[in-house]
Amino acid sequence: MSREMHQVVEEEDEERRRQRKMEEVLEVKSLRRIISAYLNYPDAAEEDVKRYERSFKKLPPAHKALLSHYPSKFQRLRRCISMNSHFIYNMLEAFEPPLDMSQDMDGCEDSHHEHALNDHLFSSEGNCCPSQSASTTGMCCSKPGGACCGQGNNTICRSSDRVTTDEEVQIEGCCEPATGSHLANLQNSQSTVELAKICCSDSNGNVALSHHDCLDPLVRFNVPLVDVDKVRCIIRNIVRDWADEGQKERDQCYKPILDELDSLFPNRSKDSPPTCLVPGAGLGRLALEISCLGFVCQGNEFSYYMMICSSFILNHAQTTEEWIIYPWIHSNCNSLSDSDQLRPVSIPDIHPASAGITEGFSMCGGDFVEVYSDPTQVGVWDAVVTCFFIDTAHNIIEYIEIISRILKDGGIWINLGPLLYHFADMYGQDEMSIELSLEDVKRVALHYGFQLEKESRIETTYTTNPLSMMQNRYFTAFWTMRKMSMATQKDSTQ
Ligand SMILES: C[S@@+](CC[C@H](N)C(=O)[O-])C[C@H]1O[C@@H](n2cnc3c(N)ncnc32)[C@H](O)[C@@H]1O
Repeated sequence: MSREMHQVVEEEDEERRRQRKMEEVLEVKSLRRIISAYLNYPDAAEEDVKRYERSFKKLPPAHKALLSHYPSKFQRLRRCISMNSHFIYNMLEAFEPPLDMSQDMDGCEDSHHEHALNDHLFSSEGNCCPSQSASTTGMCCSKPGGACCGQGNNTICRSSDRVTTDEEVQIEGCCEPATGSHLANLQNSQSTVELAKICCSDSNGNVALSHHDCLDPLVRFNVPLVDVDKVRCIIRNIVRDWADEGQKERDQCYKPILDELDSLFPNRSKDSPPTCLVPGAGLGRLALEISCLGFVCQGNEFSYYMMICSSFILNHAQTTEEWIIYPWIHSNCNSLSDSDQLRPVSIPDIHPASAGITEGFSMCGGDFVEVYSDPTQVGVWDAVVTCFFIDTAHNIIEYIEIISRILKDGGIWINLGPLLYHFADMYGQDEMSIELSLEDVKRVALHYGFQLEKESRIETTYTTNPLSMMQNRYFTAFWTMRKMSMATQKDSTQ
């Protein structure tokens, strides 16, 4: 190679390193914000209670007398908040950031204030596991240049998150796409309590902050209230995935998918189980159930809000009903009674480590498009299951194209969900959003080699309080499509 060529290559390498560093810095910033959102939860909830108290105080005495139980309700609310906070605190305590949270934040557009706080808050060191580039490990998060940490079967790579806030109307869209581009991979191994592990060093093996430092009230910085709303949204998602109360919703959404997988793969071999990918896996219950059914299942998720929580429940639950949360306290609307609103919910309803998962169960963090566009993913999966996922796309055609590409010939795509496009109607933000009708979605799928085998509509709720006077219902599209082989595709067009 000539000297000039050599210099060009070095410059390109340097540029790539700079780019990667920049992405990592943005991701650290995003993760700090998410941890802070969790830590802001108690104060934000207390502010709500104070607001209720102020309104109550403004009542004329005669009206107040009619609500003499209110002061004690406020105290009960405070106890519920502290129980929720206890759960959140335990969860954060168990979380080991997959990034070096103490790294230099220069170059980010943080406010000076945020900078100052972050800099001294996330500076100490803790134990960590080594991290490797996905491109060299060939593990599930194999985006070239992406980062993936961990060893063996227990790894998680990374992504970042931002989330919408519209609780009542767009509950289903509570977690929007990540801004970060790094990848995450969390793999779980069977029969161990620690099903999955989050690593905490950067690609140079640098040590991340001690996660306990994140929990110091002094390290927390204030985030906008919309971020705390995302935490409340996660609490509702916990009920959907990990509480008895969520069973009805799981029966509506997950059971049809599980029954379909069961009947389409009748003779599942223990030695060579079929593989199934669940993009947008949320808190991981569906992926876990598919694994228990006898599939090598991988969930993919790009929200740190979700991943912090799913990792905690999957890996750290010691028993069923270990924690009590109060998911419904944050809305005074549509309650039939105070006791409905303040009722406790025990989680988890099952003990994940004893649920009987199939070897190879994993959660892969990162943007679906980035992770599964990798050439190593072509023709890898026997089944892809999307549940309340396809409408999270900027470009749903791209999702369908990737699903087709990563399936084996004859592979199965099962979908259940609405078409509540997450980027639709984002007033003032020029987000790309391709919003196809169901008819067009099916036409596009046909173009990418899918054959529709079954189709129906399923009525379901999504993270809805079952005792609320308001129940948003979706009439979701449920289908099974099969990817035809090239030969069959050609035959069918002749
Ligand atoms: C509406 S939730 C559904 C979660 C779960 N499937 C369920 O049914 O409860 C959509 C999930 O997809 C995740 N998600 C959205 N866009 C994604 C992307 N591009 N890659 C990976 N996950 C994504 C969100 O973070 C969220 O957890």
